[in-house]
Amino acid sequence: MIEAVLKEWDGEGVIIRYDHLSGAWIFIAIHSSLLGPPTGGTRMKTYSSPEAALQDALKLAAGMTYKYAAANFARGGGKAVIALPANFDPTQRRDLLLRYGALIRQLNGSFYTGPDVGTSSEDMDVIGETGAPYIFSRTPAKGGAGSSGPATALGVFSAMQAVGEKCFGSDSLSGRKILVQGAGGVGGTLIEMLVEDGAEVSFSDLDQNAIRRFRDEMGLHFVEPDQIFDTECDIFSPCAMGGILNEQTVKRLKCKAIVGAANNQLATERDAQRLKEYGIMYAPDFVISIGGAMAITGMEALGWSSEQAEAEVRRVKTTLLKILELAESRDITTEAAARRLAQARLAAAAI
Ligand code: PHE
Repeated sequence: MIEAVLKEWDGEGVIIRYDHLSGAWIFIAIHSSLLGPPTGGTRMKTYSSPEAALQDALKLAAGMTYKYAAANFARGGGKAVIALPANFDPTQRRDLLLRYGALIRQLNGSFYTGPDVGTSSEDMDVIGETGAPYIFSRTPAKGGAGSSGPATALGVFSAMQAVGEKCFGSDSLSGRKILVQGAGGVGGTLIEMLVEDGAEVSFSDLDQNAIRRFRDEMGLHFVEPDQIFDTECDIFSPCAMGGILNEQTVKRLKCKAIVGAANNQLATERDAQRLKEYGIMYAPDFVISIGGAMAITGMEALGWSSEQAEAEVRRVKTTLLKILELAESRDITTEAAARRLAQARLAAAAI
C-alpha cells in the first residue's frame, strides 16, 4: 500500500519515523527543492490510518511546491504530518514536539517548518527548542513573527477583491454575500476583514467557541454545517478541510465564486471542470493561500518589514487576475491555468 502511494508521487523523498514513546507516526514529505529550501507546515491530528496520513503529507507537500511557484517565491515544497494515535495522551504533547524538533534539526536545512492545522505558534516555540534554526512562526516573545493565520487571511481577502473585480465589476466587497466555512485561525480573521469592508458575512463551524463568538457576539448569520453547500451566496470561502469540492457537493452549490484558504479543496481535477461547467469561478487554493507562508518566511528569513510582507501578500490579487485571464483566453479551468503558470516557473528553474 505504502509502495503504491509513493510510486504515484513525483516528489523527492519522505522521512518516516515511528515515535515509540507516543505511538505517533511522523511523515516529512520533501516534494521539491527546485526553487529553494523545502518549507511547509506541520499538521498534527489523528488519521484513520498511517497510510492516510502519508497520503495527506504527500499531497500537501506538492501543494506547497505549487504555492511558492505560483507566487514566484524562492522556497521549495514540503510538509510534515504528525499522525497522533486515537488514544494520544495530551500531557505527552511537549515531549513529542521536542523529539520532532530534534528530527528536523538532524535534517540540517533539508526541511523548514511552520504551523498548520493542529499546531500553533506556541507549538513552534517548543519545536524550536530542539529544532532551531529551521522553525518559522514562533511567537514574538521567542523572536518569531507570530501566527501565520492573519497573513493567509489577507491573501484570501485580496483574492476576493480580484474576483469582485472580475465577477461583479468592483473590488469592493461591500454588500456581497460571503459564506465562510471554518472560523478558525484563517477564517476568523477573514470574517473580520470582510465585515470591516461591508460584506454580508455568514459562516459555519463545528466549534462551539467559534459559534459563540461570531453568531452570539458579532451577530453574524450561522449556517448549519449540513447546509453549507445548499446556501445561496456570492462567494463561498472554504477555510476548513480539503476535498470538499467533489462530485456530490459541486452540483449543490449556489454560489458565483469559490475563494478560500483550505488546502486541496478539489477532490479531483475533474471537479475543476465541473465548476467551470456550472459557471462557478474557482480561485485555485494553492494560488491564494500563500499569504502566511510567504509573509512569515519573508519576515523571518529575508528581513522583510511587516509593511513589505503585507504588500507582497496583496500581490495575490494580481496573480489571481492573471490566472483568471489565462483561463478565459485558453478556455481551460482556472486550476489548469494556475498549474501551467507554476509548472512553467519550475521548468525554468530546472534548466
Ligand atoms: N500552514 C502554512 C501553509 O500551508 C505553512 C507555513 C506557515 C509555512 C508559516 C511557513 C511559515 O502555507
